[in-house]
Formats: sequence, structure tokens, C-alpha cells
Amino acid sequence: MSKDKNGGRTRAGESTTVGAEIDVVIERVLPGGLGLAHADGQTLLVALAAPGDRLRVRVENKRGRTLFASIVEILEPSPQRVKPPCPYFGRCGGCDFQQLNYEAQLAAKAEIIRDCLRRIARLEPPADLLVTPAPFAWRYRSRARWQYEREAEKFGYVARGSHEICDVVECPVIVPELQTTLTTLREKLRVRSLPDDADEIEAVVGDNGAIALSSSLTNANIHEATRTVGGERYRFSANCFFQINHDLLEPLVAEALRFASGDTALDLYCGVGLFTLPLARRFKKVIGVEANKSATRYAIQNLREANLINGMIETSAVGDWLKTHARALEKIDFVLLDPPRAGAEPEAIGGIKELRPLRISYVSCDPATLARDLRSFTEAGYELESICAFDLFPQTHHVETVAHLIQSS
Ligand SMILES: C[S@@+](CC[C@H](N)C(=O)[O-])C[C@H]1O[C@@H](n2cnc3c(N)ncnc32)[C@H](O)[C@@H]1O
Repeated sequence: MSKDKNGGRTRAGESTTVGAEIDVVIERVLPGGLGLAHADGQTLLVALAAPGDRLRVRVENKRGRTLFASIVEILEPSPQRVKPPCPYFGRCGGCDFQQLNYEAQLAAKAEIIRDCLRRIARLEPPADLLVTPAPFAWRYRSRARWQYEREAEKFGYVARGSHEICDVVECPVIVPELQTTLTTLREKLRVRSLPDDADEIEAVVGDNGAIALSSSLTNANIHEATRTVGGERYRFSANCFFQINHDLLEPLVAEALRFASGDTALDLYCGVGLFTLPLARRFKKVIGVEANKSATRYAIQNLREANLINGMIETSAVGDWLKTHARALEKIDFVLLDPPRAGAEPEAIGGIKELRPLRISYVSCDPATLARDLRSFTEAGYELESICAFDLFPQTHHVETVAHLIQSS
């Protein structure tokens, strides 16, 4: 039985209304980070829950037969539950896993990947799927995007489930240099010296703690950062993508290139060249493709400064580029792709299949779209050779996965 918002009792079932309160037990954490529970034949997805929690939850929303709920009371905490150390947890839209101890976070991420492989890719996941832990589960993020509102003097992150700003004084997941920047920018907001034509600032940290800033409407503060990974030096700015957790980049690059061999390779969605430079050391020729102009300018410069004249960069959407060039390309031995969360666009998948490289290395920050694209490759005669993950995003449900595919027919 459940209690509706007026204090009356309702049955959790077809009639369960938004606002009703229900007691549930969380079975596991699903892709997307929500806890799964069932009550009277209905599926509930509960935010910020831990597997094993017995909770009183309130139904906030209903989509189809699925109820979305928030925690009203923890009736019996899961043994995996810990007290979230951040005072903004639950209000801030940034972290959604601080309620889990770190071991449980890693286990939940492995389960999320397995779940996506089974349900979406229709592949049997390896039983021993490894999620490499982050060396630092706190103070690891070297990039932050802050919003601000001058009149309300609010400076922080987008709040959970809204467009409001969660005013944040201290953030426990950013590196100390970014915390100092956050404090400085908050003070600038207070004395009205932040640009009033902007409402967002992005900050990234490079080697030796150097900070590069950008803001959405003014370019006045842009300058670049550099980062050395595996002996390669990368220039980038806050306006282009660079991985946020620098502590795991060396093993991530090594894993993505584990089977990289042959004459010619493609690095699709190459950013500023994180994988293009090491690929250019192994192959006679490498072509990187990336849509963001600012990123490709840096990728070209990064290759040039490393004296890697066998690396070429194309500024284009990957799907468009492959549609135009796939037929004309010489034999491609190895394709590495590292698309954004949405995964590879259908034309990109089609183009790669047309090229039929012996091996594909797929680096992904979203297990669900990864699984969707893996299915497409396995249906086209590729076999999943190995899959593992890196915890680039502690305290959140996000995880970076590397899957290797080999041509089997
Ligand atoms: C996850 S990042 C990977 C970047 C790079 N491999 C790295 O690890 O630093 C995805 C990149 O894809 C780019 N991108 C997004 N959509 C794209 C598209 N349709 N075609 C080409 N690049 C795209 C983004 O600008 C971003 O640089």
C-alpha cells in the first residue's frame, strides 16, 4: 500500500498517482544512475538510491508504466550507503553517486556496462569485467562549467532536475586549482567584475596547475592550457574537449591502442589529438577527423610540435566525412572512435563498416550508446574481443569504456 499526498492510502499499481508515497527496496542501479525497484507490478526508478536500500519514496513523475521517484525517508540503509560528504549533494546537478561507497560505485558501473551489453548489444558480457578505479575518488576533475546570475549573486552548477543555479562555495570533486578559481570568480561576481554579457564560464587545468578560462559570450579570457600524457604534449583550451580526469589518461590511451598495428589508422572524433599522436608513432599514416574547429587547430599544432608529419587532421562531422571519403580511402587497418555521449552517427557506423578495418577500438563515455553501436558492428561480422572500463568520473554514474572489435567474417 502507498499513501497519497493528501494522506489517503492508494495501491501502488495502475492507479498510483504523482505525489503518492510508496515503500520499496532498491534492486540495483540502472544505466543512467537511477535505482530500480518494483511495487505492485510497477517499475520505479529512484534517484540517489543504493542497491539494498529500503526506502519510502515519493512518485514525482510517470512516463508510460514507469514511475520516477525521490527518497522521502531511508527506512533501512543499504550496507553500501555512505553519508554524502558534499553539502550540495542532491541539489547540485553534478554528482549522483556520493551515496555509494567507492567499491559500490565501481560495482554499479560494471553492472551498468553488463546490463547494456546484454539488453542492447545482445552480447554476453565477460564475468570479470574490470573497471579500473581512479587514483583519486575526490578532487580529480580538471574541468568545470559554472553558471552565474549577477543579480541573484549565484555562482555554481546547474541544479538537479531544473535550470536553476545551485550556488556552490566549495566543490569536493574539482582539483584544488579549480577550487581556487571558483573562489576567485565568486569574489569577482560579488564585486561585479564578471562580464555581464555572459552567464557561463568554463575552466580547465593544464600542467603545473595553469588555468584556462572561457565564457559563453565573451572571448576575452580565453587562453590555452597544455597537458603531457604518456610523453606527448597537448595544447587545448576551455573551448574544446579534453578529458576531465587526467590521472587515468595514460592507461586509457594504452588500452585504446592495445591492438593498434598496421600501416594506416583513422582516429574518429579525435579532439585535440589525444589518440592521434600515439597512433602516429605506430602507423605510417593516421587521419584524425573532428568537427570542432578549435580542436582541429590544436590537433594540427600538437602533431606539428611532435614532428609527426604522418598525421593529418580533417575538420568535419565524421558521418559526412566518411560518406564522402570512405570509397576513395586506401586500406584502413585500424579505426579508433571516441564519439560524444550520443554515440556514432549512423553514417559513421556505415562508413566504418564499408572500410572493413581488421580492428576497431571503440572508446565511449556512454555504455548504452556504445552497446547500440557494438550491436551494429557485431551484426556486420565483427566480434567483441575485449571490453574494460576506467572510472574517469568518480561520484557520478558515468564511466569510460574501451571495447575492441575484430573482423570475424
Ligand atoms: C568524447 S570527445 C573525444 C575527443 C578525443 N578523442 C579525446 O579523447 O580527447 C568527442 C569529440 O567528438 C567531437 N564531435 C562531436 N560530434 C562530432 C561529429 N559528428 N563529428 C566529428 N566530431 C564530433 C567533439 O567535438 C569532441 O571533440
